[in-house]
Amino acid sequence: MVRFLGGLVGLFFAGMLLLSFIWGAVSAVPVVAEYGKFVPPTAEQEFHKHPMQVAWSFSGPFGKYDKAQLQRGFQVYSEVCAACHSLHQIAFRSLADLGYNEAEIKAIAKAHQVPAIDPNTGEATTTEGAPADKFPLVYPNDVAARAANNNAIPPDLSLMAKARHDGSNYIHSLLVGYQDQPAELLRKFPDAKTGEGLHYNPYFANLNLAMAPPLSAEGQVTYAEGQPKPTIDQMAQDVSAFLTWAAEPKMETRKSTGVGVMIFLLFGTVLAYMAYQNIWAAKEH
Ligand code: HEC
Repeated sequence: MVRFLGGLVGLFFAGMLLLSFIWGAVSAVPVVAEYGKFVPPTAEQEFHKHPMQVAWSFSGPFGKYDKAQLQRGFQVYSEVCAACHSLHQIAFRSLADLGYNEAEIKAIAKAHQVPAIDPNTGEATTTEGAPADKFPLVYPNDVAARAANNNAIPPDLSLMAKARHDGSNYIHSLLVGYQDQPAELLRKFPDAKTGEGLHYNPYFANLNLAMAPPLSAEGQVTYAEGQPKPTIDQMAQDVSAFLTWAAEPKMETRKSTGVGVMIFLLFGTVLAYMAYQNIWAAKEH
């Protein structure tokens, strides 16, 4: 009797398994028929774009930073992005890489207030920056950052060019890529409407980000005499180049060392081959 009941229970479970398998297979048929795979694509998969490729002066094995461009990019960062984004890993004195002299760097540092301790009371206070100081934080903490930015935190930009795939191109594309949400997207994914306080940008991973387009008009930043026209695209390229330098200030050294190492290895290979020929010359083979 017990065996019989056990058999029945087993049969029941096996039957349910078979049923759910059949149910799953049947319900997958229309999805597979329409999309050719088991899971329908999401709005991100269909509408996310890879960054546009810019011909950077620093691309390739012999690439070098264009100092004039880095200075323009620093200007864009200071006049636009610095309102929300910190650059907390960078010391003012590192700006010497961009071609600024000591007096200029002192002046830049002085224009920033950095945290300090009052020598008389020991209280936390702020003071004018010195070249050895780092760029100060924009907000004292994440709560303040969220409160000022519609509940989103503007990330520190020091390493942003390295933190994102194809970072230099990504930052440029993100800055120039804002657009209206495509009608096709809303037709296919009615639930994916860009939310309140968000902005549609196909280069951002989930298509909607909390940063309003920071570069919105030609001439938003005034470049010095003899520099290119400050179009949105030019400003975006310049600030991306500057942030690439910020994330990788030693790139030129890395590349030139790489070239030297390749030449050395090539020379070593030739020597090794000649030694091989010499050592085995008398051996028949
Ligand atoms: C008014 C404030 C504000 C300004 C000005 C601003 N940003 Fe942002 N930015 C934000 C906020 C907020 C976020 C976070 C967005 C999110 O997570 O949805 C952000 C995010 C970013 C990101 C990260 C995107 C990612 O992949 O996570 C980059 C890069 C960026 N900003 C670059 C810049 C640059 C370059 C400038 C200057 C040209 C700039 N921002 C100016 C507020 C600002």
